[in-house]
Amino acid sequence: MTGPKRILTVFGTRPEAIKLFPLVHALAADKRFISRVCVSGQHRGMLDQVLAIADIVPDHDLDLMQPDQSLDDLTARLLTGIGKVLDEEQPDWVVVQGDTATAMAGALAAYYRKIPVAHVEAGLRSGNIYHPWPEEVNRKVIGNIAALHCAPTETAQYALLAENVDPATIHVTGNTVIDALHWITARIGQEPALASGLAPLEERFAGKRIIGVTTHRRENFGEGMQAIASAIRRLAARPEVAVIFPVHLNPHVREVMEAELAGVEDVAMIEPLDYPHFARLIDISTLMLSDSGGVQEEAPALGKPVLVMRETTKRPEGVAAGTAMLVGTDADRIVAEAHRLLDDQQAYLAMARAHNPFGDGKSAARICDLLVNSL
Ligand code: UD1
Ligand code: UDP
Repeated sequence: MTGPKRILTVFGTRPEAIKLFPLVHALAADKRFISRVCVSGQHRGMLDQVLAIADIVPDHDLDLMQPDQSLDDLTARLLTGIGKVLDEEQPDWVVVQGDTATAMAGALAAYYRKIPVAHVEAGLRSGNIYHPWPEEVNRKVIGNIAALHCAPTETAQYALLAENVDPATIHVTGNTVIDALHWITARIGQEPALASGLAPLEERFAGKRIIGVTTHRRENFGEGMQAIASAIRRLAARPEVAVIFPVHLNPHVREVMEAELAGVEDVAMIEPLDYPHFARLIDISTLMLSDSGGVQEEAPALGKPVLVMRETTKRPEGVAAGTAMLVGTDADRIVAEAHRLLDDQQAYLAMARAHNPFGDGKSAARICDLLVNSL
């Protein structure tokens, strides 16, 4: 009989925190594990919003974020910072999620010490190393290192098999984002005040159809962001439409949006919302306009159409299920597809059906079992 396994979960950005808090909760409650958490602080404010709501106090906080950080500098600091924590903690497993710089550096630092890596949300591939950039390559690097691949869907499983990953190391677990959504929905149910902060905007826009917007992808900086801003302005010009847009803290997003949209009637640019309020935003929106990975998974689960402002998607399930549509970053295309959904009730209803191609909310429990049985 061996003792509990030491698991070090490493993350640093908002989406990783959202998708890993269900696993951190599950590990902490399970006697088979000693759970430790290292946050890189790649994001500061947006990470801390999630840590607060999920009630997670990291054992290590590298606090690495710098304003307008470059990828190479960030990656170098992540690698050395996480490496030191691994030397101190000597875990049995390092768990990383997704495709951020923190996840990639965490996996690499573990590999340099021959510590096995479990990859949550493994196997997403667009087939284009510049869309999304640099996440497609981050995923592939982690995929080469991981000893356990927790694929959210069968599509992701097949992508890994096609890369000759050992089938015994790939498991379809579902996506932990659905666990997170269930948890937050239950929390809001217990304590509605957690999501009541949008009430003034709901009052201001009463009777209007809300479009919820998020955007932040590096490959959309510059021209793409300008086009997205212009599409938002055109959509908000419809008298029955209002836009609620929590603006990402990345300065490349903020500067463009401030310049293009400040003062535009019926566009509310607001600070990033914490997770309960963002769930509420999806709930009150007629449709979502987003280049986010997580939103592409959450909107289908909540039955809200999402127009995906990317050239490719690593999440074809949402598109196949009919709730997500790829529209790229051409302003005319974004506006045309949004108009179609606003004007054509049949087209809208065809998209606005709840689907759960990404999971059943029990992914964290499955991953715990795999962490016990896979070494
Ligand atoms: C990163 C991830 C991307 C993920 C996104 C989620 C990489 C390579 N990219 O985007 O996969 O989809 O996060 O949002 O890891 N900032 C703050 N406060 C915050 C967060 C960001 O001020 O809480 C500002 C800082 O100036 C920071 C900048 O935004 O330097 C960019 O942050 P960064 O994590 O480098 O963002 P991305 O690489 O664009
Ligand atoms: N999100 C949030 N507040 C916001 C915008 C998004 O809590 O103001 C959540 C959203 O529900 C999703 C995640 O953040 O779970 C997506 O993060 P992001 O778009 O930053 O990154 P991506 O998913 O594209 O990697």
